[in-house]
Amino acid sequence: MNEIKSKPPSTSDQFNKVYNLPIVHWVWSDIRIPKELNEFVATNNPKSSLDLGCGLGRYSKFMAQQGIKATGVDFSSVAIEKAKKEVANDQCKPSFIVSDVTNLESIKQQFDVSYDVGCFHCLNEEGQQKYVSEVYRLLKPGGIHLIWALDSAPSDIRLTPDNIAKIFENGFQLVNSRFSRRRIIASHWYWLVRKK
Ligand SMILES: C[S@@+](CC[C@H](N)C(=O)[O-])C[C@H]1O[C@@H](n2cnc3c(N)ncnc32)[C@H](O)[C@@H]1O
Repeated sequence: MNEIKSKPPSTSDQFNKVYNLPIVHWVWSDIRIPKELNEFVATNNPKSSLDLGCGLGRYSKFMAQQGIKATGVDFSSVAIEKAKKEVANDQCKPSFIVSDVTNLESIKQQFDVSYDVGCFHCLNEEGQQKYVSEVYRLLKPGGIHLIWALDSAPSDIRLTPDNIAKIFENGFQLVNSRFSRRRIIASHWYWLVRKK
């Protein structure tokens, strides 16, 4: 617990510990669907979606409820187990996979859209580059990747629209960013288009 209080979790074991606590993970799990995610669905009308760092799967569940073939990945096996339980009785269920977003080789198909609410800012520089390659591989050409990330990342890397454009420059174009006070902290939404 002290470890969790003093430093944000970064490994799957540390996240598992948090997800095993009865309360703490609710801090991350905004009950409301962000308006950016609602707009994202309405604008892109995707048939398939990939949720990176899906946690308890709330947003993947929302996608499946819209009739989208939704997949969520997270490296916390505890979070994925809870996510699966949450949708057990749903008619349209997302698929949930335990996997690290820096190595998603078990996933072969491409998705119409992908999104990430609070995972990218957990990665170090090497992880960020692997993530970019994986999202490039898994997103259809012209598809949009939506990210919500803190400006002052738990990874200690400062994230700004300029940084994000640079980190993703090899495969994506940053087409929009929006400052946000989601969860009170300074953060941004980013819309990245996968180059063809
Ligand atoms: C702040 S939580 C957000 C969870 C969920 N997206 C939400 O908004 O409720 C960040 C999530 O990213 C996951 N995560 C962090 N680094 C990861 C990695 N390298 N691979 C897969 N998941 C990761 C954590 O396990 C955690 O569930």
